[in-house]
Amino acid sequence: MIIRISRDAGESYADYNVQVSEEMTVLDALFHIQENIDESLAFRYSCRGAVCGSCAIMVNGMPLLACKTPVARIEELNNVYEVFLPRKGEVPKDGMLLEPIPKLPVMKDLVVDWEPFFDLFGKLELKLRGAGNPPEKEYLIAKEKVRELEKYTNCISCALCWSACPVVGDLKDYPGPAALAKLYRFYLDPREPDALNRLAIANQEFGWWACDFYTNCKKVCPKKVPPNIAIGKARSQLKNMEDNQ
Ligand code: SF4
Ligand code: FES
Repeated sequence: MIIRISRDAGESYADYNVQVSEEMTVLDALFHIQENIDESLAFRYSCRGAVCGSCAIMVNGMPLLACKTPVARIEELNNVYEVFLPRKGEVPKDGMLLEPIPKLPVMKDLVVDWEPFFDLFGKLELKLRGAGNPPEKEYLIAKEKVRELEKYTNCISCALCWSACPVVGDLKDYPGPAALAKLYRFYLDPREPDALNRLAIANQEFGWWACDFYTNCKKVCPKKVPPNIAIGKARSQLKNMEDNQ
């Protein structure tokens, strides 16, 4: 199979001929190229198990995790995947085109600079603040609440939703689906001292209200996190509060 890879932020492409096997993932193919054909190829990974989010790339225009995507499934995915992003390169015949995820600066080949993505996390203070002194034993949270929280705590910050969201990049300061889903997660958390303040932080034109519900975020998320649902619920809650004032 010909694997075409973006070099120099899409200014040039390199083609590699790789003998692919049934069980090989896209990340395995990248290792094969780096170890056997071109050691200068740069890509990012850490866990190799769909946990760290760092191997997010574009495969034929589909935003995917390289470590979770079997090469043998690409053709099938081409027919069923729901969100294709604009590509700079051409997909080789019977091959595969790999490009860095968009909307983040390219450092080298498939490696992007995540700073703009994580900067917005900092602005929204996405960490548990905790109320007063911690209890002597563990905090107990009702099972239903844990299940609700888990929908959002499953996020691995891979930025695939950020790449696929048409509002990101169009609207300056829009935190994007992942950051808003995380913010909502802290609103839900019973350990938070002032949950409503969490909603208020993004109660802006460029916050909760900027989403146009394309729902690309939910479609591309490898962890089935539904940022669109979080945003919709946050808006309803804010609207109810406004109506009852
Ligand atoms: S919500 Fe999903 S797609 Fe977005 S950063 Fe989290 S895990 Fe990745
Ligand atoms: S290497 Fe960690 S998610 Fe792919």
